[in-house]
Amino acid sequence: MKVLVIGGGGREHAIIDAISKSKQVTKIYAAPGNAGIAQLAECLPIKDTDVDTLVTFAYNHAIDLTVVGPELALAAGIVDAFEAHGLRIFGPTKAATQIESSKQFAKDLMKKYDIPTADYKVFSDYSSAWEYVQTSPMPVVLKYDGLAAGKGVVIAENLDEANSALKDMLQNDKFGHGQVVIEEFMTGPEFSFMCFVSGDKVYPMVLSQDHKRAFDGDKGPNTGGMGAYSPLPFITKADEEFALQKIMLPTAKAMIAEGCPFKGVLYGGLMKTPNGIKVVEFNARFGDPETEVVLPRLTADIVDIFTAIIDGTTPVLTWDKRAAIGIVLASKGYPNNYEKGFEIKNLDRVDTTVYHMGTKRENDKIITNGGRVLFVTALADTLKEAREKANAEVAKIDCENLFYRTDIGWQAT
Ligand code: AMP
Ligand code: GLY
Repeated sequence: MKVLVIGGGGREHAIIDAISKSKQVTKIYAAPGNAGIAQLAECLPIKDTDVDTLVTFAYNHAIDLTVVGPELALAAGIVDAFEAHGLRIFGPTKAATQIESSKQFAKDLMKKYDIPTADYKVFSDYSSAWEYVQTSPMPVVLKYDGLAAGKGVVIAENLDEANSALKDMLQNDKFGHGQVVIEEFMTGPEFSFMCFVSGDKVYPMVLSQDHKRAFDGDKGPNTGGMGAYSPLPFITKADEEFALQKIMLPTAKAMIAEGCPFKGVLYGGLMKTPNGIKVVEFNARFGDPETEVVLPRLTADIVDIFTAIIDGTTPVLTWDKRAAIGIVLASKGYPNNYEKGFEIKNLDRVDTTVYHMGTKRENDKIITNGGRVLFVTALADTLKEAREKANAEVAKIDCENLFYRTDIGWQAT
């Protein structure tokens, strides 16, 4: 089989790493890929949202299977376009991707089908939003209603913070011109529940947890994720069963009832609150960086799974019992302004899996080329050992413009 993977981050590197282990695969392409992916796949200089060029490439090169990583490509309708040309592709249609691309769609769906989530209201104009916020208990959660790379969410501790966030989102169009979802603040540990979904069939992956804040102790601004680990000792079998039966399965069924059946990875961003497990958000794809700790634990052939989900047959999922912890190395300044182009040295000394998130090759050097740059994953019998190993390996990497957290997995170790 010839396989094309859309995207060029750590998630796609982990997906390609898994695909490369399949005996059915003879050739892998990545668009656009990165310097790490280039060791496993041929990288194409095509943007992940350039749907027409990607369709033409897949058609002309007789690609047997395309797998989509990023939400922007899904929201651009890449799956619809491939299917219209008779090309096999793993991922949800544009209509089904709304579960991620529109917070209002997701919240309205959950309300209509009794899927547990925080109470909310949607506003498109600043003055009514501000009026409502003044009657809300603090903290209050303000979410820009669109794709904002994990940065469109503000948890306002007081009215001043709420006011300036509302101004950013509704008056100054900081993320674009759109609406705001104002939500009740929930408390409890968060976890990521990714499932392969094909219509009304839902096949769970092992649980993982992301670390959204930039600095140790969960301090600093929200990011796209600074590290992850799997499994999660604080989520019981009963919790997992509840999440499957009361959240993921009903959501898959609701998508069918709404006329946009889901095919791909449905990601439940869930919280174990004092009042039970509730949905924080849904994503329509593999999570990043969760994928970089979940797929290294997958022992089944991932190409068989993609094929089964596309065909509506039953995939076999088997997992390594060992624990995985991974640490993001990010450019100094991320998630705000940062510079690129710094040389990364000693990568060859790292004695565990390194996924590239944002790198580029320049002559014989690997240089930083994004906000999140590398992801170092370690597997071990316990989370504690995995964390020690990951921390030790990260310390070997030499680059003057990178920072990382040293407490990944603190809730579990
Ligand atoms: P989201 O992009 O919707 O996942 O939100 C980003 C992060 O903000 C989440 O991972 C949570 O940590 C936090 N968050 C979002 N919604 C809520 C909520 N209703 N209550 C508490 N924290 C929230
Ligand atoms: N780790 C959260 C996400 O992929 O959006």
